[in-house]
Amino acid sequence: MASDRSHAKMKLAVLISGSGSNLQAIMDACAKDDFPAQVAVVISNVPGAFGLTRAKEAGIPAISIDHKDFPDRHAFEDALQSALDTHDIDLICLAGFMRILTKQFIAQWPNKIINTHPALLPKFGGAGMYGEHVHKAVLAAGEAESGPTIHYVIPEVDKGEIIAQSRVAVKDDDTAQSLAKRVLAQEHILYPEAIRRIAEKRGFKSA
Ligand code: GRF
Repeated sequence: MASDRSHAKMKLAVLISGSGSNLQAIMDACAKDDFPAQVAVVISNVPGAFGLTRAKEAGIPAISIDHKDFPDRHAFEDALQSALDTHDIDLICLAGFMRILTKQFIAQWPNKIINTHPALLPKFGGAGMYGEHVHKAVLAAGEAESGPTIHYVIPEVDKGEIIAQSRVAVKDDDTAQSLAKRVLAQEHILYPEAIRRIAEKRGFKSA
């Protein structure tokens, strides 16, 4: 678990499963001198995830922990936990991480795991609401607006306290793909901003 480092930058672990465009946005923000957080480690449960390449290119430790190598979720999470412990992490940022964490794991990180979801929670969240399923549901419901939500992770999927949201208008001719693109662009702004707010509130500094 993290020690008291409230005089320094907040240390992030970013957990991914895929492209890692949100990871890129977080790394870009952290590269700025006045940003009160740094990415200490990137962990992917998918060995070939492009986000791992992004991390390596930025000189950030990039670890692959393939959930398929473990007999069950607890064994996978034990490996995750030891990788996190090595890096003295203050906050875990899920960024397109496609594994549901157990309540036992989440209990070890109270208010220290956040996630980004590509819709305005509490609507369009929960099991099965990921990727294009989310945007298709938003369009099918005839919503006028959508947008990303950054929220704390609790055992009930997508039900944790909302930290930040931003809104985009849904257009008449939107497809799931066109809507996804605009929501993702907003996520890239919102996620680093939410991290900044948490870091500042918790007394971390930019130097
Ligand atoms: C984002 O849309 C995020 O909301 C969802 O997964 C996607 C991750 O995209 N949880 P990327 O890997 O950051 O590009």
